[in-house]
Amino acid sequence: MTLFSALKSHLASVADRRIDSLVDADRAAAFSATCGDMVLDYSKTNIDATGRALLIDLLDATGVAAKRDAMFAGRKINETEGRAVLHTALRNLDGGAVKVDGKDVMPGVRETLARMRSFAEDVRSGAISGQGGKITDVINIGIGGSDLGPAMAYRALRPYVDGPRCHFVSNVDPADIAQVMEVCDPETTLVIVASKTFTTIETMMNAKTAKSWMSEHVTDPSAQFAALSTAMDKTAAFGIPAARVFGFEDWVGGRYSMWGPIGLSLMIAVGPDHFDAFLRGGQAMDQHFCTTEWSENLPALLALVGIWHNQVCGYASRAVLPYDNNLARLPAYLQQLEMESNGKGVSMNGADLPFDSGPVVWGEPGTNGQHAFYQLIHQGTRVIPCEFLVAARGHTDDLHDQHQLLVANCLAQSEALMKGRSLDEARGKVAGKFDGAELERQARHRVFPGNRPSITIAYQQLTPFVLGQIIALYEHRVFVEGVVLGINSYDQWGVELGKELATALQPIVEGKASAEGKDGSTAALVGYLQSKGL
Ligand code: F6P
Repeated sequence: MTLFSALKSHLASVADRRIDSLVDADRAAAFSATCGDMVLDYSKTNIDATGRALLIDLLDATGVAAKRDAMFAGRKINETEGRAVLHTALRNLDGGAVKVDGKDVMPGVRETLARMRSFAEDVRSGAISGQGGKITDVINIGIGGSDLGPAMAYRALRPYVDGPRCHFVSNVDPADIAQVMEVCDPETTLVIVASKTFTTIETMMNAKTAKSWMSEHVTDPSAQFAALSTAMDKTAAFGIPAARVFGFEDWVGGRYSMWGPIGLSLMIAVGPDHFDAFLRGGQAMDQHFCTTEWSENLPALLALVGIWHNQVCGYASRAVLPYDNNLARLPAYLQQLEMESNGKGVSMNGADLPFDSGPVVWGEPGTNGQHAFYQLIHQGTRVIPCEFLVAARGHTDDLHDQHQLLVANCLAQSEALMKGRSLDEARGKVAGKFDGAELERQARHRVFPGNRPSITIAYQQLTPFVLGQIIALYEHRVFVEGVVLGINSYDQWGVELGKELATALQPIVEGKASAEGKDGSTAALVGYLQSKGL
């Protein structure tokens, strides 16, 4: 019997057991783990000691430890693109050499970090300024991994922002850049063009728009541009001086790139020391991941909970629900991290994936979600495992009572999901107001099935260090899930077809080529939009 079938049999044997029947006074200690101050509590799931042992066997059977070590050592584990996967080197602040093709990459990493630091300090102090004086606004133009990471982190670390305001333009929809240009003064704005490849059409289009905007207002626009890329020839062709280009290598995947140059806007906003603390948080999680046994290892456990819910129980999505408003963009960030990494239908060896690929990841901060989609989470017919994130303290000490209410809401939700409300309890809620058949009908609407799994990631406060821990935790979860499922988590061929078709459609949309040969549906839509002024 394979381990997956053993897990399925185990699931069948516990299918009638309710989660709350497991949760005695010892359960939380036995089914949670810590990394520094951070706790991952998975006691409100239907995983028991037998299930956990089987899940851990999966890690050993699929060689996760050896693959982890290969990744950290710079081996080319991204086999379809022949690349190493070394975002961990970007936060390897105290570690030794990391070699790719026999060459230590760390001197280059340190040099770039030092250049970023000095550039960020100069922008913050005014030593590097715009034509109109000290830089007040930074516009990061990038998309996907060149946007989501810094945008999410800028929002997450808002209490630490003491530099220029940052804006993040990603969408090719002109509404995005237009609204940012409207609120920025070009004479005191720095534009950072962030693109690993420097070919992404949305980013290049927005960068061109920003350049002509800048050219209309300042005499030397290139002095107010910087670039973050692996493609130095292309940044030069765009007219950005080499001193303003911060390079990185192809062993940093786009969605794993916020630890290096792609994080420049964040570094300018919060300052190099806070950025450093963010890197140290990531590094602390790396060390924990590499040295802690699986039963206490946060990334491994998070991955195993994910596999249990998705591939074993068959729950197709997971909700990420930060009770920490500053993490508002975390779900969007995780959508790329998890779904672009593990949303694959073939295994590394090219065979069809024998199980479902990674789940749909979505979410919103609590308590907003409570007043929107939690209805479905509590009473809908599908089970959606929830992942709560919550801090002991916010950053507004004078409003701590409000923070306590936030925490009470978070804990209430996971309790409600687990316990639910029985028909008898629901009858008690409506007794006196209704009777007979109407009481029964009304009571049924107030039943909560409960027995719905959730995990909680708790920490003291969302500091730069803790944010680094959280992001590295999720990165390694993706890695572990990918290895167990046999997926290459580091390529993204699934985004290519749409790009190719968009390029082919552009002349048709512009009216320079005919829609002949296109499928009838697409041709009809082009026709409709053109008739309406496209
Ligand atoms: O289209 C997907 C993707 O390649 C992502 O993987 C990447 O983060 C994003 O586009 C942006 O790419 P680039 O940084 O090269 O502009």
